[in-house]
Amino acid sequence: MKAVRTIGKTWKSRPTIEGAGVHLRRAFGYDQVPQLDPFLLLDDFRSDDPSKFLPGFPWHPHRGIETITYVLEGNVEHGDSMGNKGNILPGDVQWMTAGSGIIHQEMPKGDARKHMGGFQLWANLPASHKMMDPRYREIKSSRIPEAILPGGVRARVICGRLDGVEGPAKDIVTDPEYLDVSVPAGGTFEHGVKPGHTVLAYVIEGEGYFDPGRDAYAREAASRNWFDIERNCRCGEGTLVLYGNGDAVRVISEEVPVRFLLVSGKPIGEPVAWYGPIVMNTREELKVAFEEYSNGTFIKHA
Ligand code: CO
Repeated sequence: MKAVRTIGKTWKSRPTIEGAGVHLRRAFGYDQVPQLDPFLLLDDFRSDDPSKFLPGFPWHPHRGIETITYVLEGNVEHGDSMGNKGNILPGDVQWMTAGSGIIHQEMPKGDARKHMGGFQLWANLPASHKMMDPRYREIKSSRIPEAILPGGVRARVICGRLDGVEGPAKDIVTDPEYLDVSVPAGGTFEHGVKPGHTVLAYVIEGEGYFDPGRDAYAREAASRNWFDIERNCRCGEGTLVLYGNGDAVRVISEEVPVRFLLVSGKPIGEPVAWYGPIVMNTREELKVAFEEYSNGTFIKHA
């Protein structure tokens, strides 16, 4: 018998402005540390207003983390200090391990309909790997397999394993899983997760029930504001669900389908010293990073 995880907390992503003036919604970030350890940040940059995404993220450094960019619509032009240059297209993932440091730029361009859509997740690195050599993985959409489950549930497996389907992003320090799951109306998705790992879901379309404790009584009680409405009721677009412990998650949809990102990883449990795009363990390491950036010795890779 699997212990199905119940919801620990839910909240909505919030509007914020990043880079050179990109309007996005932040599902979690600095203020939530260390609740989502090993994850640091999740930004939702879906928009249909080019003035709000074209300013982009011009040249900036990263050290001590991984940034994982998943594009749904439009494209992100990028270039970096390792000489990589290209476009992240719809369905593609760029899994970038900054390690000891890279300097890069990320410029969302939108499509012919002026739509831009995607997500950027930041995963922390443990002290033992913060200064590892940087590594880029460009994962084209065609390399991301889709698991087709009973009841018409589909999931793109970016990282991790689902129903015998293995994602292309492998050998990642924090043993993460990253799925893009679509559950049709009236469907159920159940998936084993590792006990002790942090598990989160971010709803990108529709609505669903993310907690097995949901029942008629709970809904009635919530509708009367007897207790926390989000805990037992449905979670809609833009909701971040942070799970409690257990070894499975179960998501149920009723009248409408639901699509969500399901992300899990092994907590690192170390101190976090974070300023802007650099995340280390101590303030001293942060100071060194910014000194190196200003005196031109930041880049360690060949
Ligand atoms: Co960046």
